[in-house]
Amino acid sequence: MTAYDYAKANHLRFVRELVEFLRLPSISTLPAHREDITRTAHWLAEHLRTIGANTVEVTPTEGHPIVFAEFTSQKPTAPTVLFYGHYDVQPVDPINEWITPPFEPTERDGALYARGATDDKGQVFLVIKAIESWLHSEGHLPCNVTLLIEGEEEIGSPHLEAYLYRYADRLKCDTVLICDTAMFAPGVPSLVYGLRGLVYLELTVQGPRRDLHSGSYGGAVVNPAHALAKMIAGLHDERGKVTVPGFYEDVIPPDTQERELLASLPFDEEAFRQELDVPSLGGEDGYTVLERLSVRPTLDVNGMWSGFTGDGAKTVLPSTAHAKISMRLVPNQRAERIAALAAEHLKRIAPAGVRVSVRQLHGADPVLVDWDSSPMQAAARALELTFGRKPVFQREGGSIPVVSMFQRMLGVPIVLMGFGLHSDGAHSPNEHFHLSNFSWGVEAVARFLEELQRGG
Ligand code: BES
Ligand code: MN
Ligand code: MN
Repeated sequence: MTAYDYAKANHLRFVRELVEFLRLPSISTLPAHREDITRTAHWLAEHLRTIGANTVEVTPTEGHPIVFAEFTSQKPTAPTVLFYGHYDVQPVDPINEWITPPFEPTERDGALYARGATDDKGQVFLVIKAIESWLHSEGHLPCNVTLLIEGEEEIGSPHLEAYLYRYADRLKCDTVLICDTAMFAPGVPSLVYGLRGLVYLELTVQGPRRDLHSGSYGGAVVNPAHALAKMIAGLHDERGKVTVPGFYEDVIPPDTQERELLASLPFDEEAFRQELDVPSLGGEDGYTVLERLSVRPTLDVNGMWSGFTGDGAKTVLPSTAHAKISMRLVPNQRAERIAALAAEHLKRIAPAGVRVSVRQLHGADPVLVDWDSSPMQAAARALELTFGRKPVFQREGGSIPVVSMFQRMLGVPIVLMGFGLHSDGAHSPNEHFHLSNFSWGVEAVARFLEELQRGG
């Protein structure tokens, strides 16, 4: 039996096991879930032992544990692939919008609904099942495979870099595989050659020392909610450009070839608008939607709050106003520099009568990887064999902090081959993963190992 036949024959069991994995509420950002995170790491480790890993280790960090495993091929000359993924997930709110509970995985219309289904537990699991398919059918793997599965990606991987330095020896490899991105469209596999970076800030505008009666004080005291609104309104100009001085300084503009490549992708702006149910789209003048989503940097408010937000009316002049602001970065912007420029700018534009403070939550540097490397070509062949069509090459708008760390520390080609869809609802209510994409993913990863061993 081939690995591919084995995967087909065992599909239903694979899905049952994935359901077990998804039941564990591994929300990394909420302290109340600390135990759940640890249980999830150990569940994974146990599963890896069961399918036959040569080494499995759960390493505690100052934050959440990291799961490490090795599967060695019989051939001493076989290449080594380091797979990276994350077992942590985002919070579930707004919980009322879930049709079925986020940690009671449910199958509907060929998709599995649960928090983490597509980001990233489902994709981690398809890699594990690809490994199992080789081991339990052919009895060996075409490559050595090392797994590094962390529990803090969704909070910016704060303890990963220290781990990578400490265990550099065991992370030596010929290529890195990451399955944590989306396909371009259903049935259209893609290889991602760029990710945006991220700077995430929390802005506090401090007004009077306490909330005030808006009748007794309103009119004579600067309202921090107004001050915040004014600041935020000024962060883009009328052409949709971010106004932070120096923001675009290090941006490499897309060249003609890249703009042509983006324009050739099968993307329908009107269908995109309709699916989101907005009257029109927005963004930076002079760029297409796909360009705005991948090769251009952005600034977005993620949340803002101040004063009274309960039912009914309360006449109050709030003491503080807050906003969470994120910026997506593109090469060669650097997270550290942009964070400093933005913080400086926010303090400079603070209206008179309030005090402004800025806290940085997390960051990631933007990356471009070599789309022409031999592992990338092996991945392209694996996707074509699996999907019956060539993959598209694209840059993604999201961020994965480890990628720039790997570039700096390992210097080997990185393959970003994901099987999700943007419409899977990652980070949103009713997150799901199409089971067809799950099985295609198992096959594609299994084929990737074979193609890689064939010589890049
Ligand atoms: N899997 C995503 C990254 C991603 C998103 C890739 C969209 C491709 C398309 C990852 O889990 C994620 O959500 N990353 C965060 C960054 C992190 C530092 C919180 C993100 O992009 O917001
Ligand atoms: Mn992810
Ligand atoms: Mn995510």
